Amino acid sequence: MSVYADYQKVSEHYDDGRRPAGADVIAGLITVKLGKPLKDLHVLDIGCGTGNYSVALLQHGVGKVTLADANRGMLKKAKEKLELGNHLHTVVDIREAVLPSLPFQDQTYDAIMMNQVLHHLESDPDGNHFPTTQKTFKEFNRVLKPDGVLIMTNTMKHQLYGVWFYSILPTVLDRFSRRVPSNDDIIEILRNSDFDVETPMSYLGHDWFNDYYNLEGPLNESWRMGHSFFSYASEEERRNGIESMKSMKENGSLKCFCEEHDGASSIGTFTFFVLHHLELDPDGEHFPTIQETFSAIHRVLKPGGVLAITNTCKDQFYGVWFCNIMPSVLERLIKRVPSKDDIIDMMHESNFDVETPLSYLRNNWLKDYSNIEGPLLESWRMRDSFFSQAPEEEIRIGIEIVKTMKSNGTLKSFFEEHDRTSSFGTFTFFVALKK
Ligand SMILES: C[S@@+](CC[C@H](N)C(=O)[O-])C[C@H]1O[C@@H](n2cnc3c(N)ncnc32)[C@H](O)[C@@H]1O
Repeated sequence: MSVYADYQKVSEHYDDGRRPAGADVIAGLITVKLGKPLKDLHVLDIGCGTGNYSVALLQHGVGKVTLADANRGMLKKAKEKLELGNHLHTVVDIREAVLPSLPFQDQTYDAIMMNQVLHHLESDPDGNHFPTTQKTFKEFNRVLKPDGVLIMTNTMKHQLYGVWFYSILPTVLDRFSRRVPSNDDIIEILRNSDFDVETPMSYLGHDWFNDYYNLEGPLNESWRMGHSFFSYASEEERRNGIESMKSMKENGSLKCFCEEHDGASSIGTFTFFVLHHLELDPDGEHFPTIQETFSAIHRVLKPGGVLAITNTCKDQFYGVWFCNIMPSVLERLIKRVPSKDDIIDMMHESNFDVETPLSYLRNNWLKDYSNIEGPLLESWRMRDSFFSQAPEEEIRIGIEIVKTMKSNGTLKSFFEEHDRTSSFGTFTFFVALKK
């Protein structure tokens, strides 16, 4: 939710001035980057406002959209607009969502677009740290399909100084600029959130706002409502700005002021960022990092040296009873883990002679393994990384399942059914000799 702009009020006037500038470019980027026709794609419009960009994308041929915004007034306008344009059948969902969280399932969208929302995200911006922005991008990564694309447009820090009427309130402009990362900042934040970033691209136009060159626009309250920048000013700052505009108007210097401060056609009024979701998660079949690790170990070992490793292998995870409480997490985890044969192949590939792997048929690697109520305790769950890589929602569901089994008396038989300590073993020893 915007911490400074009252979008409930703004929703009544937003469409007087704002237009979905660059929507054609966004549609083009999405289809080209994904290599699929627009009609086959599902796009999430986050911070959709009154839905202008969603409507434009649907008109360009996008198959399905989901819209989300923190403000009900903006969502109501969006819904009315989609209804009027007869677009509701292509809308999968339209709902309230407050970033940095998203109430959507993992890997749902082919593309996400976020237009002019970035500067609303931080509650206490110091201009150097953008923790909510970072969390937001991580969340985008979660709900994007593998190889999905994120298109973000925003007026970036340096571009704020090229919107001519922001310079009417210079102290507000300096304060406001702390809300917005520089291009370099955003690229770093995005990379830390596992996105691959393409070169940012400036939009050299002013048509995101109908009446951009109306020199007297800022004197009008409904005009100012099209720019959350003005909500960031105190009453006094706003009054002073209006007074100084009025005197420029009277002494004929207002046009010069606009020309001097306008950067619409040089630095542009906003920037496109095109971002690809990086597929860092292993696919369960290829393990390049493990392979590299074995090769690196081979390099530092003396000839004839020994590599001894222990690890729970793919099949053995199914025999760790508590992993079965959250089967979807288990299926994801399994993709990170090679089978015994995979490990042997990789060791051979790195020039090791491998002895027969040996399963360890005990459960004493984890203190209190057989405590069937252990998963209900956070400190117990902390002992195993299986729980730490599950999203909170899945943990919550897992805990509910354990509680239900506890209350209906089936928890013990669940344990007995899934525990394979004495058959599969809980981990495997591998001994390999450097050739
Ligand atoms: C400038 S408007 C942009 C609307 C639309 N994307 C467009 O470009 O026309 C900013 C929108 O971001 C929404 N917003 C602000 N903070 C948000 C948050 N934390 N989570 C979700 N939406 C947010 C506001 O409610 C508002 O609708």
